[in-house]
Amino acid sequence: MRGERLDRLLARLGLGSRKEVARLVRGGRVRVAGEEVRDPGCHVPPGATVELDGKPLRVRRHHHVLLHKPAGYVTSRTEGPSVYALLEGFPTRDLSPVGRLDKDTEGLLLFTTHGELLHRLTHPRHKVAKRYLVHLLHPATEADRQAFAEGLVLEGERLLPALLAWGEDPTRVELTLLEGRFHQVKRMFAARGNRVLYLKRLALGPLGLEGLARGEARYLTPEEEAALYRAVGLWGEDAQG
Ligand code: URA
Repeated sequence: MRGERLDRLLARLGLGSRKEVARLVRGGRVRVAGEEVRDPGCHVPPGATVELDGKPLRVRRHHHVLLHKPAGYVTSRTEGPSVYALLEGFPTRDLSPVGRLDKDTEGLLLFTTHGELLHRLTHPRHKVAKRYLVHLLHPATEADRQAFAEGLVLEGERLLPALLAWGEDPTRVELTLLEGRFHQVKRMFAARGNRVLYLKRLALGPLGLEGLARGEARYLTPEEEAALYRAVGLWGEDAQG
């Protein structure tokens, strides 16, 4: 692994724009793995210490970015408009989406550089809850609730139990899944003779969208990161995000 470009890493740590941090480096104020470097474009090997004015910076090995995806963006690098266009300033090259949201779906989309975390968040074995707000063409019924709770059979495969809940209006429901199959929410309601008119992911495990406007992205807070690692049993040796 080649590591991250020094100027990008310093900018990501909030030390200034790429231009500003380049000046710090050229001024001889930065050391990588104990050596003074003057090239802002050099690559920082994973795990190397980085110091500014003799003080070590906390360099994260992994990053996790939370996006409030608006409708109209595709969870793809190659098709457009791409969700990556909303991640300007983040290390997009190394970030992979944790599952996909359809073009017309909005809501919480997490990106991470941590392959094992990604695997665990998407593998049904770890049963990480994904909670959706769903607007339906027809009111949901008690029979739908039961069928989902028992594990719907879709194209010959039994799904994990899913929790369907609503308040006053049974066309405005919340559905919590423990897995994330292709178009799963839409296919589940279609199998019940209903149709999804609007879909938004509200939560992924311990993460929600609080404070994040549509189209905005931010790094996870240390508390969110810890909660996420805990949710998939990565608390400990692998959690050095
Ligand atoms: N289920 C769907 O049908 N679409 C999504 O975007 C997410 C879950």
